[in-house]
Amino acid sequence: MLKFLLAETPADGVLLIRLNRPEALNALNTALLGELATLLGQSATDSRVRAVVITGNDRAFAAGADVKEMAALNAVGVLQDARVAHWARIAAFPKPLIAAVNGFALGGGCELVMQADIVVAGRTALFGQPEINLGIIPGAGGTQRLIRALGKALASQMVMTGEPISAERALQAGLVSEITEPELTLERALALADTLAAKAPIALQQAKDVLAQAQETHLSGGLAYERKAFCLLAATDDRNEGISAFLEKRTPTYHGC
Ligand code: CAA
Repeated sequence: MLKFLLAETPADGVLLIRLNRPEALNALNTALLGELATLLGQSATDSRVRAVVITGNDRAFAAGADVKEMAALNAVGVLQDARVAHWARIAAFPKPLIAAVNGFALGGGCELVMQADIVVAGRTALFGQPEINLGIIPGAGGTQRLIRALGKALASQMVMTGEPISAERALQAGLVSEITEPELTLERALALADTLAAKAPIALQQAKDVLAQAQETHLSGGLAYERKAFCLLAATDDRNEGISAFLEKRTPTYHGC
């Protein structure tokens, strides 16, 4: 039973997850994060789910960790926080994850955006790591993922000043893949999810895994990793189906095997 999320299946193979704490600008309290980690964990092994879209509402994607909840934690509480395990489960989700972002994507909200493979943002969305204004720093990957996505100068500016950047700037810098009018953001993200749901599922998962590896390793190691995944895919029925369909001039039907 979900309390802080809404989940629906708007099309075959597509799961839509809406963060649903509008009264707190979708602040990511621990229970919400736990629900998200569990839902993604279940979706990882559910062959009916081929792509996931995560979104908030018009005003906020998510305004960060729940500051009121954080205020109650001492140092030991922070050290033993269940959030760490929730974030790790979210990061381990192996299927395509698309973020549809309108409004504030701040702190943990921006860090959640960076867990997505593809990010569609409304023109008025704002991305930021304002933790410095609370006397802390990002704690769910903000510094590390932002610097890889945006480079040192802009990441440092965002983390050190706490000032957000616009969707336009986020697009130029590579944090966002596309900008839309705000009312079209979810529609565009769902269209992308539809496209992905028709692709070969194992190939998509391998693509995600290999792309993620590029953040972790040096070039020759990454190239070797890519080659292994490429060879592994030669053993799938979907690879035969994809190639046969091309040669027979028809649309392929993939079964994820
Ligand atoms: N946690 C808890 N509640 C939050 C929240 C948050 N991160 N962000 C907003 N809210 C609540 C507000 O307290 C307010 O609730 P009440 O009406 O009960 O007071 C409600 O949402 C609406 O917010 P505002 O009245 O502040 O709305 P605004 O339009 O004036 O300002 C805002 C919007 C600029 C986003 C402002 O709410 C804000 O600065 N929020 C905090 C952003 C932040 O600091 N995020 C980082 C958190 S730390 C973190 O994320 C660390 C990590 O992951 C590891």
